[in-house]
Amino acid sequence: MCTGGGSGIGRAVCQVLAREGAKVAVVDQNEAGANETAQLIGADASKAYTTDVSSSSSVRELLTNVQTQFSDVPTVLVNSAGITRDAFLLKMKEENFDKVIDVNLKGTFLVTQALARMILENKIQNASFVNIASIVGKIGNIGQSNYAPSKAGVLALTKTAALEFGRMGIRVNAVVPGFIDTPMTSTIPDKVKDSLLQLVAMGRMGRPEEIAEACLFLASDRSSYMTGTSIDVTGGMPVGL
Ligand SMILES: NC(=O)c1ccc[n+]([C@@H]2O[C@H](COP(=O)([O-])OP(=O)(O)OC[C@H]3O[C@@H](n4cnc5c(N)ncnc54)[C@H](O)[C@@H]3O)[C@@H](O)[C@H]2O)c1
Repeated sequence: MCTGGGSGIGRAVCQVLAREGAKVAVVDQNEAGANETAQLIGADASKAYTTDVSSSSSVRELLTNVQTQFSDVPTVLVNSAGITRDAFLLKMKEENFDKVIDVNLKGTFLVTQALARMILENKIQNASFVNIASIVGKIGNIGQSNYAPSKAGVLALTKTAALEFGRMGIRVNAVVPGFIDTPMTSTIPDKVKDSLLQLVAMGRMGRPEEIAEACLFLASDRSSYMTGTSIDVTGGMPVGL
């Protein structure tokens, strides 16, 4: 199961998981995006779900529908749903602070909690959760006094969930993207993009697939002794961190 599966990194994650033989629940608030991803993968390997991850009732409904329609409980979760609402701190509106925390941090919490409960109820022993954080959650970013703390929170939530779930067979890790070419970054003016790329050792933006491959590693048994940790996929941004 992958949230934010209707676009960008989430879509690439869905495609990579399906490539490896998984049946994928494509979860997104954007119905058209989720449907498009499911169509790209094929109806035999995926189903689309319209869900708002920041709403506990929407998440509960999602889990019930996924279990019924797949006749199974997901053992892989990638939390990729996320938003930005950028403004300088002095001008940041309270509602935009709350909204970003609600989707990025609370949404990750709600889906994690709901699926972990279902996994335990069904006595499943081996599951892997992957949270998409961000490098700005480690280093901060001008204009993102809502987004950067939401992603720092995702990293702390990852470690906490790993501690609580470690003996229950659920591993929880994070992938930390740098500057990735998706609809989220497409509106950034070229001048700003150029200055951000100065900070990237490899001198280019990442591709969604490059994040998805790291998610696949953490989702798979190849990372069977990893939990509570994170993998930076930033092309070296900033070098030395
Ligand atoms: N693009 C980057 O440079 C970058 C860098 C670091 C981290 N990230 C993170 O990667 C993740 C994916 O971002 P992306 O670049 O693919 O962006 P994107 O905008 O292409 O995709 C995000 C998806 O999340 C969905 N979404 C938003 N709010 C939702 C909600 N309440 N419930 C369910 N779905 C919701 C959107 O509809 C969209 O399909 C996000 O968590 C983002 O913060 C992105």
